Amino acid sequence: MTVVSPKILLLGKDSQLGWELRRSLSAIGPLIACDRQSANLENEDELRVQVRHHQPSFIVNTAAYTAVDKAETEQAKAYQINETAVRILAEEASRIGAWLVHYSTDYVFDGEKPSPYTEDDEPRPLNIYGLSKAAGERAIRDVGCKHLIIRSGWLYSAHGSNFPRAILRRAIERDQLEVVSDSFGAPTSAHLVADVTAAMLGRLNDLAQSEELSGIYHLTSSGETSWYDYAQFLLSLAQNRGLPIKANAKRVFPVTGASYAAVAVRPKNSRLDTSLLRRRFHVHLPDWKIHARRFIDEVARSRLL
Ligand SMILES: NC(=O)c1ccc[n+]([C@@H]2O[C@H](COP(=O)([O-])OP(=O)(O)OC[C@H]3O[C@@H](n4cnc5c(N)ncnc54)[C@H](OP(=O)(O)O)[C@@H]3O)[C@@H](O)[C@H]2O)c1
Repeated sequence: MTVVSPKILLLGKDSQLGWELRRSLSAIGPLIACDRQSANLENEDELRVQVRHHQPSFIVNTAAYTAVDKAETEQAKAYQINETAVRILAEEASRIGAWLVHYSTDYVFDGEKPSPYTEDDEPRPLNIYGLSKAAGERAIRDVGCKHLIIRSGWLYSAHGSNFPRAILRRAIERDQLEVVSDSFGAPTSAHLVADVTAAMLGRLNDLAQSEELSGIYHLTSSGETSWYDYAQFLLSLAQNRGLPIKANAKRVFPVTGASYAAVAVRPKNSRLDTSLLRRRFHVHLPDWKIHARRFIDEVARSRLL
């Protein structure tokens, strides 16, 4: 029997997630990995040409406008990248019968729900980034191509711009930190999201009726914490691993989100209910502390800060 490995077109190869997907997706099939130079999401023709030229079975898009505060003053650019380009990818996927795998965010919600958000909850974004990402989700669904829209939150990796790296850097420079204590979520490593994405693609590839799995899925680690407790956890691990921090866990002080002057309003509740994903794709989502420990180990070994 000949087994055909599906061709994968990955956009955003240097994003936190793209970096990890280059590793995890290479076990699924031949991978064409693009960055801004080869597939600019602000160049509609270039995107169409890339898809038509490569004819992939899966288009995996991690490229996005992710500067949450800057988006408030760069609305047109945020929508161009997070909505218009995504609609084009959906149209091209539909044209060749490919799957579009796209990432979205807890920021499509307003954070007012007292429990974790499910895929059935109505998006109600608080800021331009969230609005543009919700518009991208709608564009995919309007076009109607086969899709996985994977919403995650509190994403980090050892290579990229994210909360745990910022906390470690600040703790090395200063002897005390203030961290928001009234926002809750599940820190989620890009490594985990990449591995679960690969498992999802593997399953789609194996199933005859895979179209039935098309839809939105929530993907985060298990468990939950506040930014404040998360920072304390990271700094006590960092201290144990001998990282040169001046502010240890006892030198972190809680503040409210309202007192923290960010340009864009953020949701207080970023918790996502992942039961649909676990049920349909048979994946295990470990507690957030497991990958957080691995992250500190990786930073301590390689001094990646
Ligand atoms: N970070 C989070 O906490 C979080 C949470 C939930 C969901 N997400 C979603 O997960 C996905 C990946 O996030 P991430 O944090 O891994 O992203 P990231 O590290 O911020 O990287 C974004 C990537 O998009 C690329 N990009 C931006 N504009 C582009 C354009 N016009 N053309 C081509 N590429 C462009 C950037 O390329 P350059 O390097 O050239 O700028 C960069 O590689 C995104 O869809 C994001 O919305 C993120």
